[in-house]
Amino acid sequence: MIKIAVLGYGTIGSGVVEVLETNREHITQTAGQEIEVKYVLDLRDFPGDPIQEKIVHDYEIIKNDPEIQIVVEAMGGVEPAYTFVKGALLEGKHVATSNKALVAKHGAELLEIAKEREINFLFEASVGGGIPIIRPLVTSLTADIVEEITGILNGTTNYMLTKMSTEGSDYNEVLKDAQAKGYAEADPTADVEGYDACRKIAILTSLVCGKTVDFEEIHTEGISKITPEDIAYAKAMGRSIKLLATSRGDGNGYYAMVAPFMLGEDHPLNNVNGVFNAIFVHGNMLGDAMFYGSGAGKLPTASAVAADIVDIAKHLKRNIMITYSAEKMNLLDYKQAEY
Ligand code: HSE
Repeated sequence: MIKIAVLGYGTIGSGVVEVLETNREHITQTAGQEIEVKYVLDLRDFPGDPIQEKIVHDYEIIKNDPEIQIVVEAMGGVEPAYTFVKGALLEGKHVATSNKALVAKHGAELLEIAKEREINFLFEASVGGGIPIIRPLVTSLTADIVEEITGILNGTTNYMLTKMSTEGSDYNEVLKDAQAKGYAEADPTADVEGYDACRKIAILTSLVCGKTVDFEEIHTEGISKITPEDIAYAKAMGRSIKLLATSRGDGNGYYAMVAPFMLGEDHPLNNVNGVFNAIFVHGNMLGDAMFYGSGAGKLPTASAVAADIVDIAKHLKRNIMITYSAEKMNLLDYKQAEY
């Protein structure tokens, strides 16, 4: 049996506990052993909820417990997540996280620590919610030169733009709706101004080009200036407005940007609606590939985190390290990670 700790019992943390519980039998089979949540770290108490017996308020209990082999970080934001994750890795504990801000700012350093200690630092859920995209880029498309990644990488804004277009809904109303459904960031400015998508395309670009991507150099424009008139105008032309995050390589480097685009009916991302994300990838040998699915929300994102836990557990049995190389994930020079 593997004992794990979950940091944060918000949307994603509680989702991870739910996925592990709902699919317990299947996960035990896939992982080759049972996975037990021993602790859940949260500032709050949950009286009357069975989770309460696992709740701890002091991270040191988790860090100093040698029984805990995997720490799941689902707190979001850079601090205290960075301190906790670094502390766990230095203690020789594997880490799975959904935290884009953390990966964007400290990914390379954390991968380096994991590599030195021969443990894993995995972050599949940090981009695309439940869609597998990090693994395919790092472990499958290894023979290709990836020449383009273009994606709808933010579920909240895609949900908003879709509702504004199909139902003529009001901007603030749909934003509130997306927040209530657990899609939006704690501070939705990161969603609507494109910072969340910017962070995600920076992570994906770093993975494929193996070079430092300077966050601040990515031109980033969100959807807060999109008016109902813009949407009506696009519709009249048979087009949709989508917030795209794109990165193209020309052999010398990659050019990344985030901005709203008008897409024609024939564009592969035109029909990606609601909270769904899609990532179009062009490899010089593969040609085109599309990754499509639930890009935000409790269970889809938790499913990706749980898959990282299963992967770690599976490989722990055979003592194999699966952490991606820090040279590939060169994010050390990110200057603008905290939005
Ligand atoms: N706020 C993010 C989104 C959550 O809407 O896509 C998933 O990263």
